[in-house]
Amino acid sequence: MKVLVVGSGGREHAICWKIAQSPKVDKIYCAPGNAGIAEYAELVDIKAMEFDKLVAFAKENEIDLTVIGMDDPLVGGVVDKFEKAGLRVFGPRKNAAILEGSKAFSKDLMKKYNIPTAGYETFDDPQKALEYLETAKMPIVLKADGLALGKGVLICQTLEEAKEGVKSIMEDKKFGTAGNQMVVEEFMTGREVSVLSFVDGKIVKTMTSAQDHKRAKDGDQGLNTGGMGNFSPSPFFTKEIDDFCQKYIFQPTVDAMAAEGREFKGIIFFGLMLTEEGPKVLEYNARFGDPEAQVVLPRMKNDIIDVFNACIDGTLDQIDLQFEDNACVCVVLASDGYPVSYEKGFEIKGLENFKDKDGYYCFHAGSAFEDGKIVTNGGRVLGVTALGKDLLEARANAYKAVDWVDFENKYYRHDIGKAIDDVETK
Ligand code: AMP
Ligand code: GLY
Repeated sequence: MKVLVVGSGGREHAICWKIAQSPKVDKIYCAPGNAGIAEYAELVDIKAMEFDKLVAFAKENEIDLTVIGMDDPLVGGVVDKFEKAGLRVFGPRKNAAILEGSKAFSKDLMKKYNIPTAGYETFDDPQKALEYLETAKMPIVLKADGLALGKGVLICQTLEEAKEGVKSIMEDKKFGTAGNQMVVEEFMTGREVSVLSFVDGKIVKTMTSAQDHKRAKDGDQGLNTGGMGNFSPSPFFTKEIDDFCQKYIFQPTVDAMAAEGREFKGIIFFGLMLTEEGPKVLEYNARFGDPEAQVVLPRMKNDIIDVFNACIDGTLDQIDLQFEDNACVCVVLASDGYPVSYEKGFEIKGLENFKDKDGYYCFHAGSAFEDGKIVTNGGRVLGVTALGKDLLEARANAYKAVDWVDFENKYYRHDIGKAIDDVETK
């Protein structure tokens, strides 16, 4: 069969790599892809938001299955376009992708169906938001309603900061129209866990857990980014916590969407905070995480094509989802200055060091071909990823492999997986 993957990041590299393992697949295309993805897929020069061109390409090339990796096209309704054209596609329709596309929607859903999350208020008038903040408890969290590349969340320590935040989100439109509405949320503390899941409209099957590192700098300092590295599994996501989440968060979310007439098929990514009062939902995403896909997919035993098909056909109950009893760590190599401003176009050297090394992967997040060379082409450039028998070994392997590649302005966090020490030394 022929598969088309839509997206161009490290997540889509990991998805293409995993699809390439399937004996059912003869040919993979990726639109627009990147230089690393080109090893597994033929790159197609169509952007993720060019829906009509994507549909035309899929028809002309008799694509059997299209997999949407990114949030923007899902929220924009790319799946509906494919379905209307009679094409098979993996991902939620527009009316379900709103679970990620609108924080106000997802908060209201959780409230209506008693799914544990932080207390909140929604505003579309900055004046009302400012009045509310006068009596609110600090710190407090402000969230632009719409998509903002994972950066539309402000944690404000003081009333002054919060007022500034309202101005930047709702008046200066720092995150564009995503800030037309804003959610003001209670500040929670605890460990964060990402749990990705497959959903077939009726039931949910969760993948192994992961823990992201969102801040740009060591010690969780600096600005929020798309993610600077992560590890899987999270030792803090215990069997007991998993059981609680299955009962009160995971399946109830899928049921709630179905009850609202918004049947969800695809991936639900549960961003959780393990608070003293129990697990609570921080956010939902309607796609694989980036870099969560990079640490979860190398551990997955199933043929991913079978799982995609089961989600589309509503037969996920027949899939026995299995993961290796090992661990995986990904360290993101970024361009210095990310997430604010950075240079691109520097040659990436040493990629050949990953060839034929079992359990080591160099997933490209932002790379391109230029004059026969592979060059940096984004804020996040590579996700250096390694397996190990446990988290300590995986982390040591990943940091060893970080030195195998180099490019000008290479920047990375030195403390990905530091939380593992809290467990291992106990
Ligand atoms: P989100 O995009 O909603 O996941 O938010 C991005 C990051 O902001 C999360 O991963 C958390 O680190 C932080 N965050 C979001 N909401 C809260 C909250 N209510 N309390 C504390 N931290 C939060
Ligand atoms: N790593 C977080 C995300 O993909 O949203």
